[in-house]
Amino acid sequence: MKAVVNERYGPPDILDIREIATPEPKAGEILIKVHATTVGRTDACALRAHPFFVRPYTGLLRPKRTVLGLDFAGTVKAVGTDVMKFAQGDRVFGLTPGGYGAHAEYVCLPADGTVSAMPSGKRFHEVVVCEGAWYADTYLKKFNLESGHRILIYGASGAIGTSALQLSKIYGAEVTAVVSTSHLDLARRLGADRVVDYTDEDFTKISESFDFVLDAVGKTSFFRCRPLLKPEGVFAATDLGPWWQNVILAIWSSLTGTGRVVFPTPRSNRSFIEFLSARIELGEFRAVIDRKYPLRDIADAYRYVETEQKAGIVVIEVVPEDVC
Ligand SMILES: NC(=O)c1ccc[n+]([C@@H]2O[C@H](COP(=O)([O-])OP(=O)(O)OC[C@H]3O[C@@H](n4cnc5c(N)ncnc54)[C@H](OP(=O)(O)O)[C@@H]3O)[C@@H](O)[C@H]2O)c1
Repeated sequence: MKAVVNERYGPPDILDIREIATPEPKAGEILIKVHATTVGRTDACALRAHPFFVRPYTGLLRPKRTVLGLDFAGTVKAVGTDVMKFAQGDRVFGLTPGGYGAHAEYVCLPADGTVSAMPSGKRFHEVVVCEGAWYADTYLKKFNLESGHRILIYGASGAIGTSALQLSKIYGAEVTAVVSTSHLDLARRLGADRVVDYTDEDFTKISESFDFVLDAVGKTSFFRCRPLLKPEGVFAATDLGPWWQNVILAIWSSLTGTGRVVFPTPRSNRSFIEFLSARIELGEFRAVIDRKYPLRDIADAYRYVETEQKAGIVVIEVVPEDVC
């Protein structure tokens, strides 16, 4: 099968599209023919092993696993023994184990892993949204976000931001979305109750207070956002922050019992993928697709993701859409 291989760490130029052995499903596994995948910030981070501390996980000197790719959508090509849940031909989507393997024509994964039947009526490229949604949901669950809560999402135009906005509305919260001018309409279309243009107005000075503030792009800080929080309000960020301040503040908040800053780690969760499938089918959650690239141009997709300017997701069509 064709796969995108990185045998060392480095920029997108090192990616090599070549033939490698197609994996065989073992007992309890399914083999999926990948139709669509994405390049996300997790892939971009793993490609360069940046920040450096990811190396104990990705491989100290060179990558332990040489095919990246977290989000996938495709069809079940073969099933291993003991697989009851899926059958050949089923349309499925989800996240690969450990975040590896979807940048290829086929991927094998446990049938009881983070994989679900695709929402009916959707095309493959419309459902490769799990990475951002999974991260976003981790934060919203940590907040215990419920109906009636007020949340401000800073950077509501990225993969995590657009997902956090839509999921917050599903959970019944009132959402203020902070985005640049070009993404104001997008945020409104996704259901934001109020939008703030951070290029035009200092969002930390708006005269409202929130139960939760989520920095969905890692570009602001707890100290800047503190005036926006209610006395019991909680802040979360998707990035470490300068000098790892978000991690340090989260540990401090936990030790002192204030809970003002949280920094949760996403964990694989099959039930969330099933929940997402249902919400996509109902039309309550939709993919925000910035660009699509054919597999052969995946290095360009990485270059674009590295600009940190994408809105929503960047799709890789492994099988061209008109052939699906
Ligand atoms: N290390 C990892 O493995 C990993 C994995 C996933 C996510 N993350 C972290 O999670 C965060 C979000 O990831 P993502 O994939 O959702 O991001 P993303 O999709 O790359 O976010 C890009 C969006 O952020 C907006 N943006 C850029 N600069 C901004 C600023 N100064 N203020 C507000 N918005 C700004 C851009 O729109 P405008 O410029 O038009 O505003 C763009 O729409 C990042 O901090 C990333 O590092 C890390």
